[in-house]
Amino acid sequence: MTDQYAVIGHPISHSKSPKIHQAFAKQTGQSLEYRAIDIYPDDVAGQIQQLHNALKLKGLNVTVPFKETLWSLIDDLSERADRAGAVNTIVISESGNLFGDNTDGVGLSRDLLSNHGLTIKDKRILLLGAGGASRGVIAPLLQEAPTDLFIANRTAEKATNLANDFQDLGAISGGGWSDIKGKFDIVINATAASLQGEVPPISAACLADEAACYDMMYGDRDTAFVTWAKAHNAAHALDGLGMLVEQAAEAFFLWRGIRPESQPVIAMLRQ
Ligand code: ATR
Repeated sequence: MTDQYAVIGHPISHSKSPKIHQAFAKQTGQSLEYRAIDIYPDDVAGQIQQLHNALKLKGLNVTVPFKETLWSLIDDLSERADRAGAVNTIVISESGNLFGDNTDGVGLSRDLLSNHGLTIKDKRILLLGAGGASRGVIAPLLQEAPTDLFIANRTAEKATNLANDFQDLGAISGGGWSDIKGKFDIVINATAASLQGEVPPISAACLADEAACYDMMYGDRDTAFVTWAKAHNAAHALDGLGMLVEQAAEAFFLWRGIRPESQPVIAMLRQ
């Protein structure tokens, strides 16, 4: 039987993951099937078990709203999933054991570094938002040794609490919008504001000359934050499509032991 994989979420019909993994499989000559499965918010563990019994799944991707739910349900977690407080990739052993990992953060740092040729080392990073999306990317960003990372959030206290959780990994602090001081080289939007077509109320004065603005969201058209960045002449105005493909590439590597090329797949999705 062909190896089976799936992405689970609710809703899930919009997911690009099947297209991405099918493209990786074709590119690397791997034989596998990958589908999107809508599951319901109650008894997530039971539904995964049923899916595994029916399909003999080898792996799963997890998306909204189950990343945090699964983190608390899975015992066997990678260090990065544990730090992120969320799981986006599960490796399932022959015996049905679930290993939870999180490839979102490494997906973001690879997109910034490899696809966009940016540098994080010795740069100042401003991270907007203090929810699950932010938490998932902090450790991989600090690993690249920025000068500092400031988390700004509508609810300032959430930003300071989140920064406190990562003090051991580097220079990190947090606060409200009015606590943003000085200029930043990389400004990352991890708020859910783009979903409402809104932009966090920050001033363009926080952009350094060669600043890169990065929205972790993406869409068929420019997101509100990308539009804002272009309007304020940011040197780079980037959306999160590359992060999506890079987190998938890392998941594919965990499952298949082969690292696919992400650039052609990003180009395919942009068409
Ligand atoms: P996610 O998992 O996507 O991070 P979340 O945990 O609900 O979702 O967090 C959403 C983040 O977007 C939070 O930082 C939230 O700010 P608050 O902590 O103050 O709620 C932020 N957010 C949501 N809508 C926003 C908006 N319209 N403007 C600015 N920030 C917004």
